[in-house]
Amino acid sequence: MFSQESDGVSMETLKVDLGARSYPIFIAADAYAKLGEVLKLYKIGARFVVITDAVVDRYHAEPVLASFKAAQLRVDKITVAEGEHCKNLQTLESILGEMLHLGCDRQTVVLALGGGVIGDLAGFAAATFMRGVAFVQTPTTLLAQVDASIGGKVGVNHALGKNMIGAFHQPRLVWIDTASLRTLPPREIVCGLAEIVKHALIRDRQYFEFLEAHLPALLQLEEAALVKTIRRSCEIKAEIVARDEQEAGERALLNFGHSVGHALEAATHYQQLRHGEAVMLGILAEAYIAREAGLLAAAAFTRIENFLKRIPLNVGLDGISITIVEQCMAFDKKAQQGKLRLALLRGIGEAVLTADWPREVLPPAIQYALQSWRRD
Ligand SMILES: NC(=O)c1ccc[n+]([C@@H]2O[C@H](COP(=O)([O-])OP(=O)(O)OC[C@H]3O[C@@H](n4cnc5c(N)ncnc54)[C@H](O)[C@@H]3O)[C@@H](O)[C@H]2O)c1
Ligand SMILES: [Zn+2]
Repeated sequence: MFSQESDGVSMETLKVDLGARSYPIFIAADAYAKLGEVLKLYKIGARFVVITDAVVDRYHAEPVLASFKAAQLRVDKITVAEGEHCKNLQTLESILGEMLHLGCDRQTVVLALGGGVIGDLAGFAAATFMRGVAFVQTPTTLLAQVDASIGGKVGVNHALGKNMIGAFHQPRLVWIDTASLRTLPPREIVCGLAEIVKHALIRDRQYFEFLEAHLPALLQLEEAALVKTIRRSCEIKAEIVARDEQEAGERALLNFGHSVGHALEAATHYQQLRHGEAVMLGILAEAYIAREAGLLAAAAFTRIENFLKRIPLNVGLDGISITIVEQCMAFDKKAQQGKLRLALLRGIGEAVLTADWPREVLPPAIQYALQSWRRD
């Protein structure tokens, strides 16, 4: 096994336990130089293709490529345009075409270097190229480091819906370098915090208390608080995925905040809100629903609300139609036989999946969340 301390680089290792398809998650700072060596040690492959976007390419591709060369691994790079609007079949086709032009084969390993968009896109390219090749996740946004890079959900959007085309394809290894967050805009840090708060609220009260105490440190990207947070979130996600890889049940708890969140994204045509921002609003709205359904105590709701409002959400929230958000929720793919199952909080650190909640509280819940961050 790779040592925890190597050449002055300290590393945390976790495991996603999926039997023969188990894989390690490495968390370290300033460790891109080690990546090639570790991939070699874990016998992931001898030929790699790095898939990245234009922004991440500029900041982080060079040390990654250098580490492959140092480890004498063959490597090519494919760069696509950045942004959610590129997570589509057209970009997928261009990636697969370039891989064919480069002469990639079934032994080639895809390495996703970027945020959740690149992870989903490159992962889906890996799932489909020659009926599936190995892939490695190297997430560079906080959101991708704590959530999107773990669990094997890969795919692209369709004009008629987000993530409508995809597969389950687990990575062989996840490499998280916290140093990559230094170039990330503050808005993206807030997006990652939404998934982090979600993990704490559905699973771990103590973790929520830790977040309450360390929020300023996290917003400042203080290393110790950051590593502890990324580690705990990865653990929670890994545990849930290990128990329910294909979302037959428990994994749907990770949709907490996402039913309303996805609807807010759709209602604003994926332009006004980032995914994490919509989830932050969704968390407050769904906590409100849980309170109205008699599941969540009023004091716990207030505590959650007070914490969320300390997170700066600098987005325009005017002009969002509650009716359209409601309609988008009805179309959510998780609507099952006309019943919309939500992951609702029973307390801080505990959630249940239920279709048993009063529909009439939905509009006021959305309204309440939107008003909480309105700047006026
Ligand atoms: N597969 C899953 O389980 C899962 C889970 C959650 C979200 N997602 C998906 O993830 C996507 C959102 O991911 P995201 O929030 O990471 O968005 P993103 O990948 O679009 O990245 C956000 C922006 O930050 C830039 N960027 C990335 N890393 C950077 C860095 N280190 N420094 C500077 N800029 C950097 C990107 O170029 C982009 O402009 C959505 O498509 C969502 O559906 C997937
Ligand atoms: Zn999410």
